[in-house]
Amino acid sequence: MKDLTVNRNTDSSVSLNSASDSFGLANLESFGGVESLNMIEETSPELTISDNNNLRQKEALIFSSVSDGILVLDIDGNHTIVNQAAADMLGYTIEEMVGKHSHKMWHHTHPDGTSFHESECPIYKTIKKNSTSHRNECMFWRKDGSSFIVDYSSNPLVKNGEVNGVVVVFRDISELKEAQKELKIQQDIVLAQSRQAAMGEMVAMIAHQWRQPLTIVSMAVNNLKIDMDLGTEITNETIDEMSDTIFEQVNHLSNTIDDFSDFLKPDKKKESVNICDVMERAIRMTGSGLKNNNIHVDIKMNCKSNIKAYPGELLQVFLNIINNSKDAIKHSQVKEPRIAIDVNEIDGLVIASICDNGGGIAYPTLKLLGQPYVSTRNKNGTGLGIYMSKTIIEKHLGGTLSWKNIGEGACFTVALQL
Ligand SMILES: Nc1ncnc2c1ncn2[C@@H]1O[C@H](COP(=O)(O)OP(=O)(O)O)[C@@H](O)[C@H]1O
Ligand SMILES: [Mg+2]
Repeated sequence: MKDLTVNRNTDSSVSLNSASDSFGLANLESFGGVESLNMIEETSPELTISDNNNLRQKEALIFSSVSDGILVLDIDGNHTIVNQAAADMLGYTIEEMVGKHSHKMWHHTHPDGTSFHESECPIYKTIKKNSTSHRNECMFWRKDGSSFIVDYSSNPLVKNGEVNGVVVVFRDISELKEAQKELKIQQDIVLAQSRQAAMGEMVAMIAHQWRQPLTIVSMAVNNLKIDMDLGTEITNETIDEMSDTIFEQVNHLSNTIDDFSDFLKPDKKKESVNICDVMERAIRMTGSGLKNNNIHVDIKMNCKSNIKAYPGELLQVFLNIINNSKDAIKHSQVKEPRIAIDVNEIDGLVIASICDNGGGIAYPTLKLLGQPYVSTRNKNGTGLGIYMSKTIIEKHLGGTLSWKNIGEGACFTVALQL
């Protein structure tokens, strides 16, 4: 361990003004180190010299052992005390720093490369205005010209009511920032994959929705052709009937396009949304898939108020949950398949629940659900649906998405503030 380097006068009545800092260091008085010992010498005559020496050594040990950088500056901004961590982080020796001007050494330049004048510096203001300052994500510069990101606090050193210097405590957060950046990149990748997976499910739903109307249209045209081939008389009535049928089915196809294309549009800003309308649309879009599997849907909806939300994202959540219920029901081959959908307003919340009788969520999945890539559907599943739904409800809309097994199946509940 290196020696503590101290450059100070021997005046004893020095105290530190601020008790706490953003780094959780308990009390800055202890970092006044040798300064505070003089107070004890004067005010505690009963302490022996050996007691004082012990205390002095302990304080010096603490000061040089902490991993945060600690700098004591005089009113001109020159270093008077430098701990080992500060010198290491800034790439100097303690001896190189003591007596030198702080701002010129490690605080001279803004992150964009422009000059940072001392008069704008919060540390300088601490001296001039006797005010404590806490700053996050600032840049300090090393001896070799490289820089690093810090959180720091500067606290005035007050002597006889006058600011006599400043204590700067800082922590290098570069690694933390890098880790946060990496995490954000990973999250963006998962979100992009989730969106792609949602599109895939959407295409499957469109195929389901379109199959029936297309069959009706093709049958109508086919019947017409058979009549023509057989030389059967085609009355005006038949043509009327046929064109009505075709028109109705084409309308239906066109409506489904509207539903799906709305979903595919990225939501740029929140809109006033009626949750019951979004749920109705989700039921309509999954309708043919549910019908094909003979799933009975019980719907109870009561929405008096609208909420601010991204309608496309909300629709994606409901589609996900309903499709999962359909898959669970298909898989379990339950005799009387049912999905109960309930939307209600309770105590300032709008609560939408989707419950099924598809056998419930299997044990390890129940614990892991909400994390990405959790799926029991082998090649058919991406395991991103519930993760994405949770992200949308909780991160984008400030609500909650929860799930549990009840009765013969699973129940998913979305709660959003009205
Ligand atoms: N209603 C449900 N009943 C039973 N299990 C479910 C239900 N909803 C979700 N799960 C389980 O959660 C897993 C993850 O669902 P999800 O995130 O939508 O991904 P995926 O559908 O691609 O598997 C599913 O594979 C399934 O095991
Ligand atoms: Mg799913």
